[in-house]
Amino acid sequence: MNILVINGPSLNMLGVREPEVYGTQTYKDLENYIMSFEDLYKVTIDIKQTNLEGIIIDLLQYGNDKFDGVILNAGAFTHYSYALYDSIKSISKPVIEVHLTDVNNREDFRKISVIKEACKATVSGLGFKSYEEALKLLLKGSVTKW
Ligand code: DQA
Repeated sequence: MNILVINGPSLNMLGVREPEVYGTQTYKDLENYIMSFEDLYKVTIDIKQTNLEGIIIDLLQYGNDKFDGVILNAGAFTHYSYALYDSIKSISKPVIEVHLTDVNNREDFRKISVIKEACKATVSGLGFKSYEEALKLLLKGSVTKW
């Protein structure tokens, strides 16, 4: 199974960004953690990070051609990007929404995910482990979207 992980805006700032919220581990630590799943779960993983909404859409379309599933942390775009909602709906591969933090127990605006309904599942609040749980869901489920 080939998995694409897409990390959106400011996730590259992990370690520096609000350490009291996101912890002190860096983005490189997150990448290393995710890449350790290759051996553990016998999958191949590609990780991309971008601060740009349009690039996430391009990556989703690229993922549809080349990967069996996508793990997406869309960062703040989660809460208002109907363009992301549409692009997730437009592809045939399953997308799992992930968040490091528990978005339901933070500011009110974070309680709304406009991409949730387009995604196969959501995992949030487990820190780095959110990505592992998302991968397990992809491995467990059929790789078709619905
Ligand atoms: C986040 C939560 C979002 O609300 C926030 O905008 C992020 C990170 C998370 O991983 O907890 O950038 O997606």
